[in-house]
Amino acid sequence: MITVIGLGFVGLTTALGFSEKGLKVYGYDINKEKTALIASGKIPFFEKGLDEVLAKNLNKNFLIASSIEEAVKNSKVIIMCVGTPSDDKGRADLTYIKSALDSILSSVDKQDKKIIIIKSTIPPSTTRNEIIPYIEKSGFETGKDIFVANNPEFLREGHAWDDFINPDRIVIGTDDEYTKTIMSEIYSKFSVPIHFVTLNTGEFIKYLSNTFLSTLISYSNEMSMIADSIGGIDMKAAFKIFHEDKRWFGNPANMQTYAYPGCGFGGYCLPKDTQALVQKAKDYNYNAKILDGVLRVNSEIKPHWIEKIKKSVSSDKNIAILGLSFKPESDDIRQTPALEIIKLLLENGYKNIIAYDPIANDLFDKTYKLPLKYAKSLDEALNNSEAVVIATGWREFTENKNKFCKKTIFDLRYIL
Ligand SMILES: NC(=O)c1ccc[n+]([C@@H]2O[C@H](COP(=O)([O-])OP(=O)(O)OC[C@H]3O[C@@H](n4cnc5c(N)ncnc54)[C@H](O)[C@@H]3O)[C@@H](O)[C@H]2O)c1
Repeated sequence: MITVIGLGFVGLTTALGFSEKGLKVYGYDINKEKTALIASGKIPFFEKGLDEVLAKNLNKNFLIASSIEEAVKNSKVIIMCVGTPSDDKGRADLTYIKSALDSILSSVDKQDKKIIIIKSTIPPSTTRNEIIPYIEKSGFETGKDIFVANNPEFLREGHAWDDFINPDRIVIGTDDEYTKTIMSEIYSKFSVPIHFVTLNTGEFIKYLSNTFLSTLISYSNEMSMIADSIGGIDMKAAFKIFHEDKRWFGNPANMQTYAYPGCGFGGYCLPKDTQALVQKAKDYNYNAKILDGVLRVNSEIKPHWIEKIKKSVSSDKNIAILGLSFKPESDDIRQTPALEIIKLLLENGYKNIIAYDPIANDLFDKTYKLPLKYAKSLDEALNNSEAVVIATGWREFTENKNKFCKKTIFDLRYIL
């Protein structure tokens, strides 16, 4: 038996979703009008398909709890789906979560080992740094008398039922095995991967998703404002044709490779073209904030990595730089991030640098004339270094990942 607290878009869909999959679910909401409406078989908001599943499950697998005590006492798992609006400083307001927790905790017996799942969207570190301490202040020891995890929800309003019942993936942020076992049972009827990750990772994944979407929308809007200020641009046609790029559709060089962290973009096109459009917009009196930010982040990411390197590798050590071209499968070294990384290392006193690229060594040496040694093979680079910096995501490096053990590795492309 599980309890879902908060019967809004997410909570009611979640409660009905688990009921439909055969679990016994209590639903509880503090709003009595809403609860009465649901108990009478009506959905308090518009979401297609939900009324039918409510009719099918109400008073069978799905019960409206008359009190939170009744629901909590009879449930192993309590899923919180209350709202997390912004507070006056723009932070996630945890008032509803905390007040729901107060009611839950007063009905919990320590021997019952209840699992509290936060499905509400909360920023990374909130479970660990705010929710767990809040629970522990009431005398519970988390991981012993009570278990706390998060389970971000990715449903879209308007498609809530379909998204919940046919998810792409399930994410559980938890630090304990007990929760993993119980959550695997609860989600056992969903045939998609269940990813068990740390508490912070679970929360982060939801923000990765939402901020990516908000960035794409604002990016598109900024582009529309640039286009309007320049004039003579057919917005609808431009965006429609833009959407025909095969990278949207799972081609080997698909969009995922762009929505991935690394040490910045380089090469002949992205840096100069982004720069040029920022300048052109300025000429037409439009100040491009996102594109300007894109360029600033692209510069900041390199010193960010250097600070990480400096923390664990002293400047007298031998460092291998693996990859010199701006991307794998290319020998183009124009504006390659590796150049900036190497220059910053040299500026910070790292003199023993050995560079290796499967095809771009000679061109890099001839073009930039930096005081480096060059290795003829990956093995030579690895044999002559204590620390390794992967600056380009060549497949050769991933395929030889076993050779990297015992080195201090800075995988700037997250490929190992
Ligand atoms: N709406 C979405 O598309 C969506 C998608 C994914 C995640 N989320 C996240 O899920 C959470 C819930 O979103 P929503 O759209 O369902 O919100 P909502 O406002 O529709 O529902 C929240 C419900 O919680 C109830 N509630 C508040 N305090 C309570 C308490 N102490 N005890 C019991 N019930 C209480 C409210 O009465 C309300 O019915 C938010 O954190 C939101 O960011 C929303």
